[in-house]
Amino acid sequence: MAIATRTAVCVPAAGRGERLGAGTPKALRLVGGVPMLVHSVRAMSRVRSVDLVIVAAPANQVDHVRSLLAGTVEDAAVTVVAGGDTRQESVARALIALPADVTTVLVHDAARPLVPAEVVERVISAVIAGSPAVVPVLPMVDTIKAVDAEGVVVATPDRAFLRAVQTPQGFSRDVLQRAHAAADVDDVTDDSGLVEALGIHVSTVLGHEEAFKITRPLDLVLAEAIVAQRRARGVLA
Ligand code: CTP
Ligand code: MG
Repeated sequence: MAIATRTAVCVPAAGRGERLGAGTPKALRLVGGVPMLVHSVRAMSRVRSVDLVIVAAPANQVDHVRSLLAGTVEDAAVTVVAGGDTRQESVARALIALPADVTTVLVHDAARPLVPAEVVERVISAVIAGSPAVVPVLPMVDTIKAVDAEGVVVATPDRAFLRAVQTPQGFSRDVLQRAHAAADVDDVTDDSGLVEALGIHVSTVLGHEEAFKITRPLDLVLAEAIVAQRRARGVLA
């Protein structure tokens, strides 16, 4: 029997990638010869319960992104909209394009192209099981210090209670839309933070090292190595 839920993934991909280095928008930079965004959209569409992927592309590249994805993604429907000046605005614009029958919404950074399917599945399962908001997390590797404006350490939070947050983050549709509508800022980079601000519980599932975000040049070196390793093993990449 078909499950009575429709799942869509919003993929913010309109960033400039300033920390990676100027030039092509980050989502269109190649990893293993394939644009990062294509890896990311495929990683979502390959998951069986994902019905639709909505990409927020750089505003001047919408047509290009549409044709790029038309030829490379087959397992789910893909919609491309123009992104905004901040990640939050890009997500909000993707949310506007959600069809009425979608009940579960994920938000996934285009800049996390190598996220394994198991992470996406864990997030979707947790939302379908009743969690209104779910984030994939990993334990912290480094000790984290809180500092003041002068850089002087003011606290050392217990690492056992800290987690690094990844994407895709998953939400019941109405919760995410309410959270974005209620936001009193426009540059939040973490959707679950907007949900927390409503006083709604955010739960965690286990993330994955390979769901890391490509932010700086060294991250690209790691991503290239992972793609090469997957190809050598005959795994789709
Ligand atoms: N993003 C977006 N719209 C923006 C800014 C960011 O859709 N106006 C997206 C990026 O494309 C990326 C995700 O949000 O997939 C995470 O953002 P980040 O890693 O910060 O990417 P950039 O903003 O492109 O990088 P930088 O901050 O170094 O410029
Ligand atoms: Mg950014």
